Amino acid sequence: MKFRKLGNTGEQLSAIGLGCMGMSFAYGPADEQESINTLHKALDLGVNFWDTADMYANGENEKLISKVLVPNRDKIFIATKFGFRFKDGKASHSGAPGTYFDGSPEWIKQAVDQSLQRLKIDEIDLYYAHRIDPNVPVEETVGTMADLVKAGKVKYLGLSEASPESIRKANKIHPITALQSEYSLLTRDVEKEILSTIRELGITLVPYSPLARGLFSNINEVQNFGDDDFRKSLPRYQQENLENNRNLAKEINDFAASKGIKGTQLALAWVLNQGEDIIPIPGTKRIKYLEENIAATHIELSTSDLETIDSIMKKYPNIGERYSEGSMKLVNN
Ligand SMILES: NC(=O)c1ccc[n+]([C@@H]2O[C@H](COP(=O)([O-])OP(=O)(O)OC[C@H]3O[C@@H](n4cnc5c(N)ncnc54)[C@H](OP(=O)(O)O)[C@@H]3O)[C@@H](O)[C@H]2O)c1
Repeated sequence: MKFRKLGNTGEQLSAIGLGCMGMSFAYGPADEQESINTLHKALDLGVNFWDTADMYANGENEKLISKVLVPNRDKIFIATKFGFRFKDGKASHSGAPGTYFDGSPEWIKQAVDQSLQRLKIDEIDLYYAHRIDPNVPVEETVGTMADLVKAGKVKYLGLSEASPESIRKANKIHPITALQSEYSLLTRDVEKEILSTIRELGITLVPYSPLARGLFSNINEVQNFGDDDFRKSLPRYQQENLENNRNLAKEINDFAASKGIKGTQLALAWVLNQGEDIIPIPGTKRIKYLEENIAATHIELSTSDLETIDSIMKKYPNIGERYSEGSMKLVNN
């Protein structure tokens, strides 16, 4: 396993982490035993940076992970997040009408204890604000998170989908170690100003959905997605963008095949190629995909490969927004 440094902390994390969300939530049916086997395999193969959140299946994802985390606590660097809440207490996704965001001090103090209980651990390694609450000054949110560090409940602090302005304000209150934001061949928001800001401040980028939610491998299966599959709500899987994205995926897969790899591996290698200070967290609930994703850490992309990828991306510009309208209001705040 290759390793990368986490911010200024001295921690060495596997060059890719493991996104655990899909083991309980969002991307169709999951088999608990298969997920547990995948977690054990990740451990065996040295993937030591695991990602979850309190909202994934309303805490069930944290409970699932705890089964492998607890007996192997010293080998895993665990990250979780707080902030999304459900009006009726029923799990849903970020853009659903019953879901809202709460970055208030009162909620953070409860949320951290609930995550610790579900994970069955004493300290969370990396605790993220899942979004910046537009109704709470970021200084107040991060001030409360800093108190959790003092109390020994949390080791390092992170933000997710924060704007450069919020990152700077937050970092003045307490060092921010990681920014988790969407970054992939299809989602490039961070390239505008965010990457340069966090590089200046020594903050690691943790790209989520680095495989564009599996679009390169599943865009032709959209008719088989269940009604509760989150991807059904995303513009990239909808009529106006579907043809563009099918053609895009085909060309990326064809180019990858000419190099003897999969389109998903090419997509992940592209993210890894954007800097040693970037640690993507591809999500999977399957050993086969985990192994393929680890193999992508060894793929070298030449200047000519990168040019080919760019030219394919430019040919298919109608990829669509990464979230529905409601969810878009909560990103880059
Ligand atoms: N901060 C945030 O707001 C936020 C938002 C979304 C996600 N996240 C975190 O980021 C993690 C990763 O993002 P993500 O899961 O949304 O998207 P992703 O990593 O881009 O893609 C995951 C999808 O790709 C499929 N996949 C994975 N490896 C594959 C391979 N080698 N070949 C073919 N398909 C493959 C998975 O299938 P299977 O499910 O069948 O294994 C899943 O459907 C999540 O697990 C979560 O922890 C954070």
